[in-house]
Parts: sequence; C-alpha cells; structure tokens
Amino acid sequence: MAETSADREQWATRLGFILAAVGSAVGLGNIWRFPFQIGQEGGGAFLLVYLLFVVLIGIPVILVEFVIGRRSKQSPVKAFSELGYGNWRYIGGLFVLTGLMIMSFYSVAAGWVLRYTGGSVTGAYFENPEAYFATISEGTMTIALHGLFIALTAVIVAAGVKRGIELAVKTMIPALVVVMVALIGYAATLDGAMAGYSWFLSPDLDVLAENWMSILPAAAGQAFFTLSLGMGVMITYASYLGEDRNLVEDSGWIAGLDTLIAVMAGFIIFPVLFAIGATPGDGGPGELFIGVGGAIAEIPGSHIVGLLFFGVVAIGALSSAISILEVLVSYLIDSYGVDRQRATYGMAGLIFLLGVPSAMDLDTLGLIDGITGGFMLPLGVFLLVIFVGWVFPRSDDELSKGLKSGAEGRLPQLWLWYVRTVVLVVVAIVLVFEAYNQLVAFGVIG
Ligand code: TRP
Repeated sequence: MAETSADREQWATRLGFILAAVGSAVGLGNIWRFPFQIGQEGGGAFLLVYLLFVVLIGIPVILVEFVIGRRSKQSPVKAFSELGYGNWRYIGGLFVLTGLMIMSFYSVAAGWVLRYTGGSVTGAYFENPEAYFATISEGTMTIALHGLFIALTAVIVAAGVKRGIELAVKTMIPALVVVMVALIGYAATLDGAMAGYSWFLSPDLDVLAENWMSILPAAAGQAFFTLSLGMGVMITYASYLGEDRNLVEDSGWIAGLDTLIAVMAGFIIFPVLFAIGATPGDGGPGELFIGVGGAIAEIPGSHIVGLLFFGVVAIGALSSAISILEVLVSYLIDSYGVDRQRATYGMAGLIFLLGVPSAMDLDTLGLIDGITGGFMLPLGVFLLVIFVGWVFPRSDDELSKGLKSGAEGRLPQLWLWYVRTVVLVVVAIVLVFEAYNQLVAFGVIG
C-alpha cells in the first residue's frame, strides 16, 4: 500500500527526529573523510575554516532544508510541485542522482569498515596494514561486502520511519558516543597524544593565507557532506515532522553534535597516528584503515580496541546510509506510489550495481567522492538557497512556526535576510573556486 499525505508517517518523538538527523550527519564523513581531508588541507587551518563554515553557513542551510520539508510534507522531488513550483522539481532530480552516486561509493567504504570490524577479531590486518588494505579495498570480496552493507541498510529502511529508522538510531547513537569517549581516554594515554592534539588544534595562519582558494571549497564540501546537506536528506526528514517543532533549536543540536563527534574522532585518530609516527593526510582514503588500523595493531589490547573502534564506525556509517536511502525510497513512494518494500529493495539493487566500479577501483571511488562532495552538494545547496531566499514567498513564516514569540519572533526574518544575501554569496564563491580548481587540475587553465 502506498503512503499518501494523510497517512504519512511522523516521528514518534522529538528525540527520535533529532537522533535520526544526527545519525544521518554522523558517519564516515566524520570519522573517515574528515581526518584525511584535514590532513591533506593543512591541519588546524582547515579545522578553523571548517568550524566557521558549519556555524555560519551550515546551520542556516539546515533550516533552508527543514522549511521546505516541513512545509511541503513531501520528498524533495515532489516538494517543489506541492509548493506550487513544478519547474523546480528538477532540483529534486539532481538530489536523487547525487544520492545514488554518494550511496554507491559510501557503501563500498562502509564495506571496508565491516571487513575491519571482523578483521579486528581475527587480527587479519595486524601483520601488514598497508598490504591488507590493498587486498581488501578492491575486488570481489569488496563487492560482496558492499552488497552486505546495502542489504543491512535496506532492512532498516524497509521497516519504515518509526519502527525502522527511529528505533535503530535510538540505540546506535548512544552506543557510538559511549565507545568514542572510552577510546578518547585510551588515546590520551599514548605517547603521541600531545603531538597529535597540537597538530590538530593549532591553526597555521600562513598555511591558510597561502592555500585559501583550495581550503575554502574543501572545507565547504566537507561541511555539507558531514551535515548531510545539499541532497534533500533534511528536507525528507523534516517532512515527517509536525508543526510544533522548534526548527532553530533542532538545527543547533544537529550541527553541534555532528561537530562534537568529528572533533572527538580527531582526538582519537591524531594521537593514534602520531603514536606510530605517521603523517596525517598521507594515507588519503586509506588513512583510517592503514594509519589507524596499523596503530591499533601495535598497541596493547588490539583486538578489543579495533573491534570497538571499527564497530562504532560501522554504526555511524549505517545510520547515515539509512538517510540517503530514505531520500531515494521516499521519492519512489511519493512520486510513483510504489510501496515501501519494493521501493527499498529496488533502490538497493540499483545502488549495488552502481557501486561495483568503485568497489573494483579505488580511483573511481575517489573521483565520485570528489565530484559529489566538491561540486554536486554545493550546487544543490546553492539552488535551495535561491529557492528559499528569493523564489518561495515568506519562507520565514514557516520557520516561525514552533518558535516562541518575543526575541525569537524576529529570528526568522533575520535568517531569511541572511540566507538570501550572505549565504548565497558565500556558496556562489565556493562553487566558482571549486570550478576553477577543477579546471586547473584537469589542465584546462594554468
Ligand atoms: N553525513 C554523512 C556522513 O558524514 C553522510 C551523508 C548522509 C550524506 N546523508 C548525506 C552526505 C547526504 C551528503 C548528503 O557520513
């Protein structure tokens, strides 16, 4: 049976919604992508720009997506028609494409994590971390684990919003935080701890001044990726929301918790890397596995530390993958009336096929990651900002629902003004820089 607007599911509890959104945000982006991005882009200087970006651009953009979702009560493709702007449904189409592309490689990387979770028990990667990563990051087994991860994700999404997604995140997120806190305590006892913290936390402003044209778009792309912005996840999740929610407060919680967990990951990863004398950033996409895996192999308690660490990463990846798949599934449900089961397993099958090239070749994976994170997400955000800021009348009214009056009453107008000017300009600059960097990288311009 297809879900219609009248019997559209809603989150059972406020906490459920926040945790689902936090679960979407917290994932491989925080623990896998963030550390190697910061390593490649100049350490503390990157961290600084990234943090500023999350607060000044990320939070307002979360609200942009929330407003569209709660107002329309539809998945991204149908949302625009529902609001009376049918031509904008092509943005929804862009989101579906972006979602398929992200999911295709995300699930491959999550498959590596599953492999390392099991490998911690057997000690498979302890001997030679680098060679081990090379053997598991491409090939038949990689395809199989990619398939396994998609299947796990699909089972949860098929169970629906309340019974599937909400229930899953309510257990996964607290578990993730508890284990990470324990690992931070553990990492603090290692020899490299001080060197790791200071590398992570002291921004070198000279590095920033010299590389700002590449640091800015990289930090922006990382911020959008980690907050799950620019492909309709937050639109979709807000579409299951009632009118009485205070969206501003929720956006603060989501951005705050996501950032906290990224920083916590840094407090684990950098001490560990420095403990074995590895240079952050050198490992690229393999860094978490070769660097951290290698370090875990050398420290006392390898089996249990490895199991906890990679187990937590797997949980984070799962709660994020759920949200991407939910966008794709809700698109089929809302636009074509397909039932949830079929929509879920159909999309999962498609993603499996699309991920095969990334599972066979690491460079393909990096390429798709670069295109989606560097360009498609910022583009999606840019278009949403234009829509909410300049096209849709009175977006601020929707935001004001659920807010208290008084001082908070002015907030929506302020937000709207800020989105249509500052946010729009900054995101436009990011896109131009990114386009320029790509043209240079491909040798089109010198
Ligand atoms: N934010 C997730 C992470 O950090 C990944 C993710 C989930 C995502 N949904 C998204 C990224 C939507 C971009 C767009 O791992």
